[in-house]
Amino acid sequence: MANLPHPVQYQGSKRNLAAHILRFLPNRVERLIEPFAGTASISIAAAAEQRTQKFWLNDLNNPLIELFKLIIENPGDMADAYADIWSEQHSDSIGHYFEIRKKFNKTNDPKLFLYLLARCVKGAVRYNSGGLFNQSPDKRRKGTKPATMRKNIEGVSSLLKGKCQFTSLDYKQLLNQVQNRDFVYMDPPYQGVCGCRDSRYFSGIDFEEFVLALEHLNERGIAFAVSYDGRLGNKTFGRVLPESLGLKRIEIEVGRSSQSTLLGRKEITTESLYLSPDLISRQFADLTSYTSNAPKQLTLLEKHGNFSTATR
Ligand SMILES: C[S@@+](CC[C@H](N)C(=O)[O-])C[C@H]1O[C@@H](n2cnc3c(N)ncnc32)[C@H](O)[C@@H]1O
Repeated sequence: MANLPHPVQYQGSKRNLAAHILRFLPNRVERLIEPFAGTASISIAAAAEQRTQKFWLNDLNNPLIELFKLIIENPGDMADAYADIWSEQHSDSIGHYFEIRKKFNKTNDPKLFLYLLARCVKGAVRYNSGGLFNQSPDKRRKGTKPATMRKNIEGVSSLLKGKCQFTSLDYKQLLNQVQNRDFVYMDPPYQGVCGCRDSRYFSGIDFEEFVLALEHLNERGIAFAVSYDGRLGNKTFGRVLPESLGLKRIEIEVGRSSQSTLLGRKEITTESLYLSPDLISRQFADLTSYTSNAPKQLTLLEKHGNFSTATR
């Protein structure tokens, strides 16, 4: 799983956690839907494991979805365009980045967006209050080399070509269209101040609205999983989803925070993965067998209801 292709860094990407998350997802699904797809890490990993042949990638950020559509359906064109833009850098690579950023903000051209994502600080998309992309270039790097980019683009395309539907809807609109045999994996934007715009992503989402949307999925018997809040040592970040939803909460260790290590503390960062009641009822056998062999970094919490646990 470590060698899966990924064309861009994206802050908040689940790329490093995908193998852990997949262990709690069904082995076979009719269609995998990511309403907050970002860089489609879970779909890429699920495609590599052949869990399904049908994917629906959605993200409110339209240039990002258009970018993935091109990567998946026209990998050669995308890789050529990247190589052209990358090679134009010459001596003034910072000036070149700002020029491309200006052009992108006028055109929303996904080919320009790929270069910006490959070149910007920490792969972190940032927008100003007018919705313009305003992230700065990483001054120490020139962005992924074209040959490496091509390999990653072709890799993603070979896993997903001809299997995806692409949309850039608000997640609530998408969830209304989900069918009974679909499986939905959700990784909403990190919770800043709820209801407010989160400049790290395209938009923030409202906590109460999100809870309501999950309630509706439960009522319709749709299986889903959500990556949501997290914890650093004893400090929780983000609001925990309410118990009334009947979700099982699993904590996945992300690692030791570099700041804690510097301060000589042993604080571990964890991220929560919530499993829906429908998923639990379908997957119970798989989960119990998994938990008995659980790697050390996973902890099953017994917070919601009676459920077998794996202790560390
Ligand atoms: C945490 S990121 C997802 C990261 C993804 N799992 C990955 O591995 O790259 C959240 C994504 O939600 C998108 N988003 C924000 N608000 C949204 C909304 N209302 N509906 C759909 N997508 C939204 C953002 O553009 C962002 O790409």
